[in-house]
Amino acid sequence: MTDQTPPATTDVLSAPTAGRVSEEAVWEVLRGVIDPELGSDIVELGMAKGVRIEPDGTVHVTIALTTSGCPLRAEIQRNVRTRVGALAGVTHVKLDWTELDQAGKAAAMERARRNIAERAEQTAVPSSTKVVMVASGKGGVGKSSVTVNLGAALADMGFTVGIMDADIWGYSVPRMVGLDGRMHAEEQPPEPDGAAAGDKRARIIPNEIPVGDGRLKVVSMGFLVEDEGSALMWRGLVLNRAVQHFLEDVDWEGVDYLLIDMPPGTGDVQMGLAKLLPRAEMLIVTTPSLTAQKVAIRVVDMGRKNFLHIAGVVENMSAYVDDTGREHRLFGTGGGDRLAEDAGVPLLARIPIEAAVADGGDHGRPVALAAGPAADAFRALARRIVEDVIQPTDMSGCSSRMLDAVQAALDDADSGPLATSAPS
Ligand SMILES: Nc1ncnc2c1ncn2[C@@H]1O[C@H](COP(=O)(O)OP(=O)(O)O)[C@@H](O)[C@H]1O
Ligand SMILES: [Mg+2]
Repeated sequence: MTDQTPPATTDVLSAPTAGRVSEEAVWEVLRGVIDPELGSDIVELGMAKGVRIEPDGTVHVTIALTTSGCPLRAEIQRNVRTRVGALAGVTHVKLDWTELDQAGKAAAMERARRNIAERAEQTAVPSSTKVVMVASGKGGVGKSSVTVNLGAALADMGFTVGIMDADIWGYSVPRMVGLDGRMHAEEQPPEPDGAAAGDKRARIIPNEIPVGDGRLKVVSMGFLVEDEGSALMWRGLVLNRAVQHFLEDVDWEGVDYLLIDMPPGTGDVQMGLAKLLPRAEMLIVTTPSLTAQKVAIRVVDMGRKNFLHIAGVVENMSAYVDDTGREHRLFGTGGGDRLAEDAGVPLLARIPIEAAVADGGDHGRPVALAAGPAADAFRALARRIVEDVIQPTDMSGCSSRMLDAVQAALDDADSGPLATSAPS
C-alpha cells in the first residue's frame, strides 16, 4: 500500500536501543483505535493483525478492514498513526492493509454485538458520535465561548450537537446558549438483550434548542443546582461523579458531535473524562500571548498520555479589527502558531477579539449565528472540522453494509451463532 512516510535515515547501528518501544505498548495503544461503526477497538475486533518493530524504531502495523473500500479507512489510518507515533521510541509508523476473511468478518460482528450491550453500561455516548474535548491550560481564554459558538455553527449546518458543560465549578454554557430550567429524567425501557428484564434505567434528557437546520442539546451543572453557591457545596469526588453521570445517564442518542467544555488545566475531572472517552479528540484553545503556551502544552501531554487524538489548536482573542479594518494585536502574537508547532498539530482557527462575542455570550445569542469577523471565523472552524479534521461518521459506509451481508449469508446457511442471536 502507498505510504507517505519517508524511509528511515537513522543508521541502524547508532539507533537508540534503550528506549525501544515494546510490542505490548503498541498493542495497548491500538486498543484505543475504535471502528466507529462496530463500536469496538480494532484489537478486540480482530482487525489489528500484526505488529512488527524494526531496530530503528519503525513500527509496522497490519490492519484488516471489513471491506477494502471502507470509507473509515482514512480515519483508522490517522488514528493508528498518531497513537502509535506518540509512543516513546517510535520513529516511523507504517501500515499494511488487508481484508478480513469471511470467518474473520463473522467473528468481528459477533464481538461487536456482544460489546454493544456491555458498552451501553459504560457510557451512553453512541459509538457514531464524534466526541470533541475543548480544553485549555488556564481559564479565561475563551474555552466556553469557542465550545458554544462551534456548537452553534455545527448545529446551523444541520448537525445534532451535544454540549456537555464539564467545567463544573465555572459552568457558563446555559447562560451562553440562553437556556435555563431543570433537566428532567425519563424511565427508559430496558435494552432488548441488555440487563435483566424489568431493569428500567432513568435517562437524563438534555435541555434542547433548535438552531438552523440542527439542534443543540445541553447538559450542565447549571441545570441541576439552584445557584452557584450550592454548586460549590458539590465539591470534590461528587463533582467527578457528576461528570461521569453526564456520560452514563444522559441520553446522547442521535448526537453527531458531542462537544465537552472542559475545566481548565489537567485535574482529576480531565483525567477521568479522558479515560472514559478513549476515542475523543481534543481541541486546545489558547490566546496569542506567548507566555501562556507552557501551561497549554501540559494539556496536550495529558491528552497524549491518555492516547487521545489532538485535533488542533484554536487561537482566541487573536486581534481586534477596528472599523477601518486595521488589526490591533492586543494580546501579543504567535501563541497559536507556537503551541500548534510544539504539539505538532494544525492551527485550525484564529478568532478575533470582538465585543459581539462577549455580548452574545452574556445574552444567550452565540455570535456564530450573527454576522461579523468572529462569526465568520467560528463558521470557518466548523466547516474545517466537518470537511477535514473530525469528519462526521458516515454510517452508510462499510461495516453496516457488511453486517447485513454477513447476516444474510449466515441466515441462508441457517447455522452459526449469529443466526440465532440476530435482532428481529
Ligand atoms: N474572541 C473574543 N472576543 C471578545 N471577548 C471574548 C472572546 N472570547 C471570549 N471572550 C470573553 O472573555 C471572557 C472569558 O471567556 P470564556 O469563554 O468564559 O473563557 P473560559 O471558558 O476559557 O474561561 C468572557 O467574558 C467572554 O465573553
Ligand atoms: Mg468556561
